[in-house]
Amino acid sequence: MHVWSKLSSTKWRDAWEERFLGLGQTNAVIQELPGGKSIRVDVYCNHEKEALAIAEQFGGRVRKVKNENWAAMAPAKRRPIKIRDTLLISGEADPQQIKQLQDAHPARQILSIPAELAFGTGDHATTSTCLQILADIAKSHRRAGRDWSMLDAGTGTGLLAIAAAKLGAAPVEGFDFDPTAVSVARRNLKRNKTSCASIYEADLNQWQPAGKTLWDVITANVFADVLTENLMKLSHALAPGGHLILSGILLEYEEAVLAAAEKTGLPRPESLHKGQWLTLHYQNT
Ligand SMILES: C[S@@+](CC[C@H](N)C(=O)[O-])C[C@H]1O[C@@H](n2cnc3c(N)ncnc32)[C@H](O)[C@@H]1O
Repeated sequence: MHVWSKLSSTKWRDAWEERFLGLGQTNAVIQELPGGKSIRVDVYCNHEKEALAIAEQFGGRVRKVKNENWAAMAPAKRRPIKIRDTLLISGEADPQQIKQLQDAHPARQILSIPAELAFGTGDHATTSTCLQILADIAKSHRRAGRDWSMLDAGTGTGLLAIAAAKLGAAPVEGFDFDPTAVSVARRNLKRNKTSCASIYEADLNQWQPAGKTLWDVITANVFADVLTENLMKLSHALAPGGHLILSGILLEYEEAVLAAAEKTGLPRPESLHKGQWLTLHYQNT
C-alpha cells in the first residue's frame, strides 16, 4: 500500500474534501495540524501508480506503508466534533476514553465513531449539517414533549441514526446497500448502546416503506441522482408535520433536486450551504 500526502492551508479544506472525501470515498484522511492554519491530506492507495498519479496532478509526496488497513492508520485522535450544545462525536473506541469525555462534557451525548470502512464520522459538511438540523428538531420535540421516529436512508457508519437515538428518537431505522457499511453501523449501534435503533441492508432504489409506517424525520445523505429518483417515495413515507433532510447535494445539482421535490408537493425547503455542498430541510404540511 502507498500513501500520497500533502500539506495545505486550512482555507482549501473544502476543495480537498470535495476531491478526496466525495460521497462513498473512504480512503482519505484530512487532518488539521496544531495551530489550525494547516491541514495534511493523506490518500491511501492499493497501488503505487494511483498515488503517483495524484502526485503528478497535485504535487505532494508518495511513500510506501506496510499496514494494509488504511482505517487503522487514520489518526485515532481526530478532534472531537461538537454539534450545537447536545452532541460530541469522537473517533475514540476505548470505553475508558469515552467515559473521560462524558465526564468532561456532562451535558452532551457522546458518540463513539472510530474510522472504519464506511462514510460518516461527522467531519464532512454533508453529515455535520444533518446533525445540526437533527439537534434542532430534537430540541423542539423535547420542548413540546413529543415522541418522534427517524429513518436514515444510506446510513454509512450509522452516525445519523445513532445521533437521533441519543437525542430521543424511537424507533430509529437505518439502511444501506453496502454490506460493509451495514456491519460497521451495527457495530457502532452496539458500541453506543443504542438499542432502539436497527440497521438493515437495502437499496433505496428498491426500498419500500414497511406497511403504512410514516416517519417523523427522514435523513438521506446520498448522491443527488439517487435523491431525485426516490423523492416521491421518501415524501410518501413522511408523517404529517415530519421533517425530510436531504444532503450530499453538490451545488450544481441544486435545481434538479428542488424541481423533483416540488413535484412531490413538499413546501419550500430551508437551504443550508457549506462549501460546495447543499443540504435541504423540508417540513411536511
Ligand atoms: C455520503 S454517505 C452518508 C453516510 C451517513 N448517513 C452520513 O450522513 O454521514 C452515503 C451512504 O449511502 C449509501 N448509499 C448510496 N446509494 C444508496 C442506495 N441507493 N441505497 C442505499 N444506500 C445507498 C452509501 O453506501 C453510503 O454509505
